[in-house]
Amino acid sequence: MEKSSPIIKVEDLTFSYRKGGSLVLKGISLEINQGDFIAILGQNGSGKSTLVRHFNGLLQPTSGRVRVKEMDSKTTPVSKLAASVGYVFQNPDHQIFCASVWDEITFGPKNLGYSKDAVEANGREALEIMELTGKEERHPHSLSRGERQRLAIATVLAIKPDVIILDEPTGGQDKARTEKLMYILKNLNEKGHTIIIITHDIELAAEYAKRVVVIFDGGLLLDGHPRDVFLEEEQLHQTFLTVPDIFAFSRAMQLKTPALSPAEFVAEYKKMKLA
Ligand SMILES: Nc1ncnc2c1ncn2[C@@H]1O[C@H](COP(=O)(O)OP(=O)(O)OP(=O)(O)O)[C@@H](O)[C@H]1O
Ligand SMILES: [Mg+2]
Repeated sequence: MEKSSPIIKVEDLTFSYRKGGSLVLKGISLEINQGDFIAILGQNGSGKSTLVRHFNGLLQPTSGRVRVKEMDSKTTPVSKLAASVGYVFQNPDHQIFCASVWDEITFGPKNLGYSKDAVEANGREALEIMELTGKEERHPHSLSRGERQRLAIATVLAIKPDVIILDEPTGGQDKARTEKLMYILKNLNEKGHTIIIITHDIELAAEYAKRVVVIFDGGLLLDGHPRDVFLEEEQLHQTFLTVPDIFAFSRAMQLKTPALSPAEFVAEYKKMKLA
């Protein structure tokens, strides 16, 4: 694959859950490139989960097209798409069905025909990254909600897909865990994985995402670098999103480059003082 061609290409996608029913997605076009770190924002019910479920073939377009590495999602088996695009469900319990943590983590790689060694190595690595080592024999449903969330992520990591989608990954996690998870995602992104997170946490999006996509009423409202998107105050207001405090504050302070995180604020403020 050429480096410049998008890893996922969405063309004029519409979708309705019922034949002839109202459209939940109303014509979305979007290109996702290898190495992107995207945060998808938008109100409850705007269509975020519905959109990303098209990226691994869980849902098929009512009209339009979704291509993953040039493969049309309509004609490519879901198992093949799953090796390229991993999706962590909004509710971890929707993807947990095995009798032990280890079975759960190795289910994907086994099913996709990975070698015995790869199944073992990927499984161990995913356990380690998500801090579940030692819990291999536990029944997934005996884990805490936070642990089940981490297990759901581990099941996808074990496949090592090019694109990792996490639908509200920070639900049920405290601040320290959330930061740890974001650090892990940042590392995976630096290793070349494309990361897509759906989140209601705009501060998190500001700090970690390299690109923000805002969905409003089944359409794409905004798409760009977080700083550019956050300058579109009127459009954000329409979808009840408020820019991070640190961004608003640095604009009020007339910083040349509005900050996306407290650390950026400090750096920019020092620069301004020196100038
Ligand atoms: N399985 C389904 N069957 C029918 N309608 C559905 C189904 N799943 C979602 N919808 C509807 O589609 C619309 C978009 O839902 P979706 O779950 O994609 O939104 P979302 O942006 O992910 O919301 P949230 O932030 O609450 O997760 C909503 O009106 C929702 O009620
Ligand atoms: Mg959702």
